[in-house]
Amino acid sequence: MLSEVLLVSAPGKVILHGEHAVVHGKAALAVALNLRTFLRLQPHSNEKVGLNLPNIGIRRAWDVASLQLLDTSFLGHGDSAALTAEHVEKLKEVAGFPEDCVDPECLAVLAFLYLYLSICRSQRWTEENLELINKWAFQGERVIHGNPSGVDNTVSTWGGALRYQQGKISSLKRPLALKILLINTKVPRSTKALVANVRSRLLKFPEIVAPLLTSIDAISLECERVLGAMAAAPTPDHYLVLEELIDMNQHHLNALGVGHASLDRLCQVTMAHGLHSKLTGAGGGGCGITLLRPDLERPEVEATKRALSNCGFDCWETSIGAPGVSVHTATSLDTSVQQALDSL
Ligand code: PMV
Repeated sequence: MLSEVLLVSAPGKVILHGEHAVVHGKAALAVALNLRTFLRLQPHSNEKVGLNLPNIGIRRAWDVASLQLLDTSFLGHGDSAALTAEHVEKLKEVAGFPEDCVDPECLAVLAFLYLYLSICRSQRWTEENLELINKWAFQGERVIHGNPSGVDNTVSTWGGALRYQQGKISSLKRPLALKILLINTKVPRSTKALVANVRSRLLKFPEIVAPLLTSIDAISLECERVLGAMAAAPTPDHYLVLEELIDMNQHHLNALGVGHASLDRLCQVTMAHGLHSKLTGAGGGGCGITLLRPDLERPEVEATKRALSNCGFDCWETSIGAPGVSVHTATSLDTSVQQALDSL
């Protein structure tokens, strides 16, 4: 039982290059962002386990006693590699969700329940071990996405900037804190469905789609090389290469069928301000990223952000290469984070 408040955070992430290709064994370049999700674990004496996810409007509570009475033998013994579709169905029963529920709010609750029940069962709360956190985070991803590549949980656990290929990670040394805009088109999409569509397109047109994946792989590797060179001595030419890579990858992703009108709009709007953008993650809506060159004047950045907001998009200015999962003390938190947690 936790005796005091535990504050932890993990960074958000974006994939710079390699989304979808990574599912097919190619490389992806992923970076942690200076935009973090905070978790406060707080002991209570009300005999309940509460879950409060204010950003997605979730507030649920379960009696500890009734959770302890549940037959969780179906979860096995702390083997975080063993999640199956049957587990997810059972968890839906526990949460009282209909069998066919797939909305992200339900999936978030299921991911929490799965991790809570499994981790309590295996009694490994005290082990502060990144490998373990990463394994559990991967299981949470599996509840939500079905068959993820593992790149998302890996970069949020370790932070920084890394190349991920078939479970193997190599960290980029001293990555530059490149500035980007992270833009949420707010168009909902299912990563699972988009990944399945790319697979069908690959099966239907192997001669056409396999070279696209190979080319995306080459873009990721070239981007890694350029970021390496920039760590030593960044030049304006490096930024031009990064912009060209972004444009080429965005076209490839469109050819894979994971584009969306909202993402086209995002690219057009930023291009009107001389900036280059691509989708990040699964596509089909969701988020895009825009590279902010260091030579940009503040008014130009502000004008671009306003233009994006006028399209109904949310927009954050952030930088890449943030630290991975971290523990905090209440006094080391930003006032804004502290206030947000206190208002819960
Ligand atoms: O949409 P996101 O942020 O979950 O990213 C998905 C990335 C894919 O490469 C499309 C899928 C994966 O599991 O790597």
